[in-house]
Amino acid sequence: MLLHIEGVLSKAEVGEFRQKLAAEGEWVDGRVTVGQQGAQVKRNQQLRPGSALAQELGQRIQQKLAAHPQFFSAALPLRTLSPLFNRYAGGGHYGLHVDGAVMNQLGSMQLLRSDVSTTLFLSEPDEYQGGELEVKDTYGLHEVKLPAGDLVLYPSTSLHQVLPVSEGERVAAFFWTQSMIRDDARRAMLYELDQSIQSLRGRYGEIEEAVALSGHYHNLLRQWAEL
Ligand code: NI
Repeated sequence: MLLHIEGVLSKAEVGEFRQKLAAEGEWVDGRVTVGQQGAQVKRNQQLRPGSALAQELGQRIQQKLAAHPQFFSAALPLRTLSPLFNRYAGGGHYGLHVDGAVMNQLGSMQLLRSDVSTTLFLSEPDEYQGGELEVKDTYGLHEVKLPAGDLVLYPSTSLHQVLPVSEGERVAAFFWTQSMIRDDARRAMLYELDQSIQSLRGRYGEIEEAVALSGHYHNLLRQWAEL
């Protein structure tokens, strides 16, 4: 499931993030965090992973998402790696690749299976040329270029790429989540069921059918969740 979530950060928050990244950010070659295949196709810069600024901004994003019902419903997170930040300019790009299946938190032995990939856009689409995130699924290639403060989440199993940024600068945060539900099709079904229950509740209140469906939702989650 490819899902766009709007306004995770306000425009004021985006402005503050951008200002800090420009003033205090220590940018390094993006190839520091990829394996061999990725290193051959990745041309961008990354905020030094583990730096004070990366931790500060990363924690703010994680706090926002911890309190975001739609993100929770779509990702069903078990654990999430600290967000990383990247910057593409001057033709920078990241060719077609698939993200590593198992990752570890910087400075920790804690392993994480990447189920859900997320990109949070920090540049407005009119600030740069190119730079579309293209995600491939069975319906073909989807182009994603969102307003600053919005995010896209997609299954980490998908091949994807970032097209060259020919003008301007594209700044974004990205991170991986291990979901309680490994399988994307099951996660998508649970998300759709949850959204339908919420809309049923919104329209008719806490009726008996909404309670029953909510019971089914939790029983499916109980069947499928890996904790
Ligand atoms: Ni990737």
